[in-house]
Amino acid sequence: MSVLKGKRVLLGVSGGIAAYKAVELLRLLTKEDAVVDVIMTPTATHFVGPETFRALSGRPVLIDLFDRAGGEGGSTVVIPHLEPAEAADLAIVAPATANTLAKMALGIADNALVTTLLSVTAPVLAAPAMDSDMWLHPATQANVELLRQRGVHFVGPGTGQLARRNVGPGRMAEPEEIVAKARRILQGRSQSQLLAGRRIVVTAGGTREPLDPVRFISNRSSGKMGFALAQAALDLGAEVDLIAAPTALAPPRGCRCVEVETALQMRREVLERLDASDAVIMAAAVADWRAEEVPEHKVKKGDADRWTITLVKNPDIAAEVGARKKSGQVLVAFAAETERLREHATEKLKKKRADLVVANDVSRTEIGFGADENQVTLFYADGRIEELPQMRKEELALELMQRVGRLLAQGGGA
Ligand SMILES: Cc1cc2nc3c(=O)[nH]c(=O)nc-3n(C[C@H](O)[C@H](O)[C@H](O)COP(=O)(O)O)c2cc1C
Repeated sequence: MSVLKGKRVLLGVSGGIAAYKAVELLRLLTKEDAVVDVIMTPTATHFVGPETFRALSGRPVLIDLFDRAGGEGGSTVVIPHLEPAEAADLAIVAPATANTLAKMALGIADNALVTTLLSVTAPVLAAPAMDSDMWLHPATQANVELLRQRGVHFVGPGTGQLARRNVGPGRMAEPEEIVAKARRILQGRSQSQLLAGRRIVVTAGGTREPLDPVRFISNRSSGKMGFALAQAALDLGAEVDLIAAPTALAPPRGCRCVEVETALQMRREVLERLDASDAVIMAAAVADWRAEEVPEHKVKKGDADRWTITLVKNPDIAAEVGARKKSGQVLVAFAAETERLREHATEKLKKKRADLVVANDVSRTEIGFGADENQVTLFYADGRIEELPQMRKEELALELMQRVGRLLAQGGGA
């Protein structure tokens, strides 16, 4: 049974060429038995007539907050905008024009759609559609970033043929893709208490290993994946300890965040919490090596041509957690590889006694370190292998934490 069955969906249609695709989107949503309230911006009516949406949804279409029932043309009726806002389980804005996104970011309420969206407490999913220049404009990008930070979900835009016959980013996601994303959001919400009562330790970021008081060696981890995992665990109801090596990110609200610098500090903080935790998610990129000796004062350049540093191995925190974990506890390790993914991931699974290894190919620049998206393959201790599609790190984090929840519900790891 579809998670959309019986759900109230508010479908906002703004004024772009892709408005015709919202008709197909509405058809797919109603096919899954969602109850859809369509709200159009006045501009959207230049592209598609409200009658089409009314006929397909079987419900009135809201365009003008002040229109009278059966008013001119009879295509719109009075519906207090607060009713669909309150009733909505999900709001989808498709297409979302540059203008409507800007209004959403600023909280402008000068038409029925953006006014209603200000009252919506359900998740909001936007499917931007516009010319590449409009999409790539710093104003649009800043608005999208702000909306993302506020929790608005986005799907697309993709790259492809645009209205002006040019090719570039800005093409609205296909209706099937929007429905798939809507399902994932609602699924996430229906499992919102999956990790209630669980205590999850998440490590994030790249450790810094000092060479002297001013220099260090580190790696390219941005911490985005780990922070997204902490947020996802919180969203699913867990108590979260985030052990964070230096990053430029603000920790998610509601978690206990401990900031560390080195692998040794991270090890201490993780092991201290191990007994009390249900799962440990090792998303940090922990340096394998540290300088054997760290001088007390800055090493001067002087006349020397060389500085020889001896590196010694750092402890393998994930392997220690694996060796110490008790039955029922779950260990998730990450494998960032540049070659032979499967071989390294299965080796890691055994060596660290992990229950799940999340492996990604960091040689692909569009995913992995620093990127907003990731594509991973999951290797389970029971031999199962699961390849997930490329998606944003926030979405992937939710998918992963749902799997952790299921592993815990099955009695945890070995
Ligand atoms: C033919 C035509 C096509 C348009 N297509 C788009 C589009 O795809 N995306 C977009 O952001 N704006 C597009 N616009 C501009 C918007 O219609 C305009 O910014 C309008 O103010 C949007 O209003 P709304 O966001 O309230 O619907 C188009 C305009 C015209 C005349």
